[in-house]
Order: sequence, then C-alpha cells, then structure tokens
Amino acid sequence: MSDSKNMFSLAGKKAIVVGGAGDLGRSMVAALGEAGAQVVIIARGEKGERYAAALEERGFDIGSVAADISERAQVDRSFDSAVERLGGSVDILVNAAGLQRRHRCEEFPMDDWAMVLEVNLTALWRYCQLAGRRMIPRGSGKIINIASMLSFFGGYTVPAYAASKGGVAQLTKALANEWAARGLNVNAIAPGYMDTKMNENIVNDPGRNAEILERIPARRWGRGEDLKGVVVFLAGPGSDYINGAIIPVDGGYLGR
Ligand SMILES: NC(=O)c1ccc[n+]([C@@H]2O[C@H](COP(=O)([O-])OP(=O)(O)OC[C@H]3O[C@@H](n4cnc5c(N)ncnc54)[C@H](O)[C@@H]3O)[C@@H](O)[C@H]2O)c1
Repeated sequence: MSDSKNMFSLAGKKAIVVGGAGDLGRSMVAALGEAGAQVVIIARGEKGERYAAALEERGFDIGSVAADISERAQVDRSFDSAVERLGGSVDILVNAAGLQRRHRCEEFPMDDWAMVLEVNLTALWRYCQLAGRRMIPRGSGKIINIASMLSFFGGYTVPAYAASKGGVAQLTKALANEWAARGLNVNAIAPGYMDTKMNENIVNDPGRNAEILERIPARRWGRGEDLKGVVVFLAGPGSDYINGAIIPVDGGYLGR
C-alpha cells in the first residue's frame, strides 16, 4: 500500500478519456493531467484536438483521437490509435461520452432509442472490453464509467437515457465481479444535476431550476470541477479495494 501522500499521484500513468472534450470530460482530463497522467482524449470532430492543445500549452502531456463512437469500427480504431499514442499500454480508462434525447415514451423514435443505447452503453461496453484485454495480462488497471442519477431513477421523457445509464451501473458491477481478482478496479461515478449544456433548458427555466435546487441538499448545481477529486481517487492506488461501486457526486440529492 502506498504512502497516503502518493495515493493521489498518477505520475507515469497512461489514461484514455472517451468524451474528454465534453463539459464534464474536460474537467476530468484536466484532473488526470494535473495528477501527473499522460492522457489521450477520444472525441468527435476537432473538439478533442483543440482542448488537448490548450492543455499542452499548460505543460501537460495530452493527445487526442477523433472518432464518431456511434460507429462500432470507429470505437475499435480509436482505442487502438489512443493506445499507440500512449506508447502501447493503458492504465486508466474513463468513459465520459454520452447523449440525451427527450420525447414522451409513446412517441420515442426508434432511431433516437438506438443512438442513445449505442453511444451511452454499447460503445462504453466495447471500450471497457478493449481496455480490459490490455489490463488483465498486466494485472492492473482502473476503469471509470460515468453513470447518472438516471442509473437509479427512471425520470420522465428520457426512457433511452435511463435504460442506458441503468445499464452502465449494472455493467460496471458485472465487469467488477469478473475482473476484481485480476487486479482491475471497475467503478462508476454518478453525477447529480450538473450545470452543463445537457441541462441548459432546465437551468434556464426559473420554475424547474428552483424546483430542483429545492431538492438538492447542497442547494447548488454541480460543476465539472466537482468530479475532479473523485476521478483522481478512482484512478489512483487509494481506491484499490473499491470494486463495482457507483459513487454519487450529487450534493446529497440521492439521499432525499
Ligand atoms: N451534464 C449532466 O448533468 C450529467 C449528469 C449525469 C451524467 N452525465 C453524463 O456525463 C457524461 C458527460 O456529459 P456532459 O454533461 O459532459 O455532456 P457533453 O455533451 O458536454 O459531453 C458528452 C460528450 O460525448 C460526446 N459524444 C456524444 N456522441 C458522440 C459520438 N457519436 N461520438 C463521439 N463522441 C460523442 C460529445 O461529443 C461530448 O463531447 C455523459 O455520459 C452524461 O450522460 C451528465
């Protein structure tokens, strides 16, 4: 067991953050970089490249690979490119890509259903599998999936998102069961109500906003920075005996 001063050091570690250019992903990439890890972001379009360049200017070792992860071949290709960019190995995988579609259940289009499940659950599963195959022979690795409050609640008008995030929580436990004894830690972070683009419509609706704040014991929306501590903890040696946990970062919301 390492000295507790080193429990949050990721010096020499190599990380892949899928969705690392998104609102929450960006904070987690910065946190891993600040803790000493080399990071490769997998992101759609040029967003990843732009964010990696900005962090490289701050002296961090951050690369990027572009991919549309709704395409299965691109998931595999992007993982291989990211590992290559990291010099052939990966210690930490963070799955932080995701998307939301809102319609009433009786009107929910099948295309939207398929897209949400593909990106939020199937791509995440495949990145876990590909990372696991690299980590198992080395007997160590940290996989961190981003779940949601909708891993616990069903919500309204978001059946595909709720199904996908419920799936992320269950998948995290299934992977942890098989891989814990082989030295891997698979866990999830479940962010609460975060002040991001995904929730823009609610944040900007004074009625809904007040309703939600009323239910959050911390009386504020979460921010990307609120995930920095927990992601470094789950990526480092301090969490070596934590397996299959779904850790809420929600200002107390789940306790209500
Ligand atoms: N914002 C919240 O309140 C909140 C709460 C709980 C959980 N989450 C989860 O946290 C994660 C990050 O969310 P966020 O708020 O940063 O959202 P975001 O939209 O800012 O980031 C999500 C990222 O996923 C990427 N993505 C989506 N579809 C993709 C595709 N086909 N190919 C490649 N990349 C794709 C987007 O480009 C984006 O960069 C998601 O899994 C989301 O479900 C968010």
